[in-house]
Amino acid sequence: MKKKLVLAYSGGLDTSCCLKWLKDRGFEVVCFSADLGSEFSPAELMKKVAKFKGVKLYIKDLKKEFANEYILPALKAGALYQGKYLLNTALGRPLIAKHLVEVANKEGASFVSHGCTAKGNDQVRIEVGVKSLNSKLKIVAPLREWELTSRETEIAYAKKHKIPITVTKKKIYSIDQNIWGVSIEAGILEDLNNEPTEDAFVLTQSLSKAPSKPQYITIEFKKGKPIKLNNKALDLVALIGKLNKIGGKHCIGRTDLIEDRVVGIKSREIYEAPAAWILHTAHKELESLVLDKETLYFKELVALKYSQLVYQGLWFSALKESLDNFVEGTQKKVSGKITLKLCKGNIIIAKRNSSFSLYKKELATYGEGDKFDRNCAQGFINIWSQPFIG
Ligand code: ARG
Repeated sequence: MKKKLVLAYSGGLDTSCCLKWLKDRGFEVVCFSADLGSEFSPAELMKKVAKFKGVKLYIKDLKKEFANEYILPALKAGALYQGKYLLNTALGRPLIAKHLVEVANKEGASFVSHGCTAKGNDQVRIEVGVKSLNSKLKIVAPLREWELTSRETEIAYAKKHKIPITVTKKKIYSIDQNIWGVSIEAGILEDLNNEPTEDAFVLTQSLSKAPSKPQYITIEFKKGKPIKLNNKALDLVALIGKLNKIGGKHCIGRTDLIEDRVVGIKSREIYEAPAAWILHTAHKELESLVLDKETLYFKELVALKYSQLVYQGLWFSALKESLDNFVEGTQKKVSGKITLKLCKGNIIIAKRNSSFSLYKKELATYGEGDKFDRNCAQGFINIWSQPFIG
């Protein structure tokens, strides 16, 4: 009997070659595609897999689950890796691992496989996820074993075996896309003196094409969750989609990062995440209005650790779960509206409004109606400075 294996299949070059390679090694392959808002449509995927006789394909639309169970907790936590990466790729991997395990369990498969490289973070995220959820599953990682050690050799292999691949101009870069953003690497970007060319970008138009007239948008949050855009209620997936369009037009959310990978190397990645940056900025702004300073200070530390856990593939860890519980506790009053002005790549705060606002104009004012007791200041400073006086 053939050994049954479920392959996390994206339709890209790597996983297309993996499919053939695994079949040739005697596996009965079942493909599983997680639709998190990637570049390939379900119809394209079905066509590609149909070329392989007897290969079953599962396509799961996981956008809702991705938005509510993965993106939202990270947004509430303020998770930002190394100051520039809102974790669009990293957040998707544990979800893919979860459903890969589910399909394997359903199919009674004892193997799972993926098309991640040996030097990347994604192999770590997917495999740690799989092991955390079903440690009995055996993992096959073709890219760590096979002789196809460059993109060129993979393309040649695909051509030789008539594997359908889409080689477009964009493919000079390696692109990973989902609703939370796009990660772009490789090609000319490996030379740190090269700027990305405009055709690298998927969601954003160039700064020079972005309108010079600002656009105002208002986002309403309820307990940390964005629920309305310009007073219109939208589910999170639709809201993110709209913000990607609006932000993309204004060239919002492009970053260029030299990042520290789990495997110890530094690499360069370009990100574009318009909706993610807009929501992250608005959420943080609302928190600064409604949370007390000790919670805010502490939450910054949590955000840093949270981003590292997500980046390093430790989503299904006890610490991540505990941090989620802490963060959730801080969100009770994170309700209100933030108005932003978008213009030429900038996100500018225009208005803040919340019934839980801790801002008291009568204390902050330098004008009439000041209620701050200035007589208290000197005594306060005497006591506050006490520990530092020699
Ligand atoms: N560097 C990012 C991360 O580790 C993205 C990895 C995938 N990038 C890509 N262009 N395929 O999360």
